[in-house]
Amino acid sequence: MFFTNLFESNLRVRDFAKQIIYYTSTQSTNDDIWSLFNDNNKENILVVTDNQLNGRGRLNNRWFSKPGHSITCSFLLNEVFDRNHFSLHSILIPVAIINGVKNFLSINLETKWPNDIMYHNKKIGGILLESKYNKKALILNVGIGLNVNEDNIDFPIDIQSNCTSLKEIKGHPIQREPLLAFILNELDILINNLDIKYLIKIWTKSCMHINSKITFKDGEKIVTGVFKHINEKGEAVILHNNNNIAYSGMINLL
Ligand code: BTN
Repeated sequence: MFFTNLFESNLRVRDFAKQIIYYTSTQSTNDDIWSLFNDNNKENILVVTDNQLNGRGRLNNRWFSKPGHSITCSFLLNEVFDRNHFSLHSILIPVAIINGVKNFLSINLETKWPNDIMYHNKKIGGILLESKYNKKALILNVGIGLNVNEDNIDFPIDIQSNCTSLKEIKGHPIQREPLLAFILNELDILINNLDIKYLIKIWTKSCMHINSKITFKDGEKIVTGVFKHINEKGEAVILHNNNNIAYSGMINLL
């Protein structure tokens, strides 16, 4: 059971996640956010569930979460960066998670492009960012999945060797409610003191593959390159055939 009172008593956000909607079970919190937004024009909402039955990941992947053990939530956020700098949203949310987890648990998690949360080569969290026009501005639907209290055997067998949880790292169960509040509080601070250089610095410092060989898509072709850094627009800069290429898509580590 996710105790919304405990969550709200730790929450210090100003401009988003003002209304908390808790479902014991649902298909996908990202879908819930869009339904609530489309049907009732709801804004500033956060949907949390204890049992997500059809969690969606990027590229039509499924997102697994053990009922009652993880953070599975989505919330609406007004665009923070303009269209030219839209990719910076993919930096902002991971940095909020990295800082929030660090503040609450003293763990240094890592980032993987575009917005995976990792620990020692294992995935621990994922972010699904979707957007829509609301009047003339873009509104974001930010879905966060974070493995909190799972044991390794709780994960489906095919992903067991590639993922971990905060409980596995710390060696004891973690309270999810203050943890989520710490993450959102951190996001609020980052938004209200916007500093692009700082965001890029923290993302890069936490990145597990700077200067590593990767593969990425160049049109229809899969090619290799070296992941160099993040530019001021929030795009990855990849060295390929002696040229630096700005890139926003998925990469694979070699
Ligand atoms: C990924 O790594 O591919 C992104 C995973 C995002 C999963 C979260 S869980 C809460 C929210 N609701 C969804 O259906 N997906 C996101």
